[in-house]
Amino acid sequence: MSKINKLISGDQVLSEFYEHLIELEVVDSTNNFAKNLYEKKNGICIYSANQKFGYGRNNRKWISHKNKSIALSIILKYKSNEESSVIPLISAVAIRKTLYEFDIDSKIKWPNDILVNSKKISGILCELDYHADSENFIIVGIGINVNFESDDFKDNPEIKYNIEPTSMNLILNKTINIDDVLVKILKNFATSFKSNRSDLISYYKKNWFDKDKNIQVQLGNNLIKGTAIDIKENGSLILRTKSETKEVMSGEIISS
Ligand code: BTN
Repeated sequence: MSKINKLISGDQVLSEFYEHLIELEVVDSTNNFAKNLYEKKNGICIYSANQKFGYGRNNRKWISHKNKSIALSIILKYKSNEESSVIPLISAVAIRKTLYEFDIDSKIKWPNDILVNSKKISGILCELDYHADSENFIIVGIGINVNFESDDFKDNPEIKYNIEPTSMNLILNKTINIDDVLVKILKNFATSFKSNRSDLISYYKKNWFDKDKNIQVQLGNNLIKGTAIDIKENGSLILRTKSETKEVMSGEIISS
């Protein structure tokens, strides 16, 4: 049994929530691996410190570097849209809390980018694995820039970051133990998942980057402009536009 799996089985919070962790020396994408698992089970995690072809929202490339980043996917069973719609927010809260345990104060850009000094330190990609007549799963993909040096972000000239990136060690000026980050993120995810929904949303809103900012949200082919005024308990964004107050269930803020 690996060191992390031993830690999981010896810890009550972790062992109750997670089935087991599959640690991969190298992987194309932990989300892809999770989606292709033949026997999915609630609470299986896929982890690698060497993800080669990670991807993010809108099919953007997500860059990981060996032993410098966390690529983690958590498989969860879900029964309803209400249940799945709040999972991106749960994940964002878990990452913010984890960073805070390392003395990093971050903000959450709706729905689930984690920013430090307006630079992106972590991203989340939730993908649904939906089957009309059997169990449904959501794959929660979490990427964290742990020990990236500035040059690591410049390695690949074809990558255009939509938000300037940063990492834990660039903020703290020291190398971070990746396994510590992994264990803390797993724990914070489990506790955030089980926490009361309104407490979770109120924590999210206290640390919400976009609050009262004039933003533009890309919704399919439409671009909506407005002021970000609230987050509802189902995770949707409330936007005040020139003509109305609009509830946005999903989308991407492209500028603020
Ligand atoms: C984003 O900011 O657009 C989301 C990035 C999500 C990256 C993570 S890394 C682990 C998992 N595997 C992937 O291929 N993507 C997610």
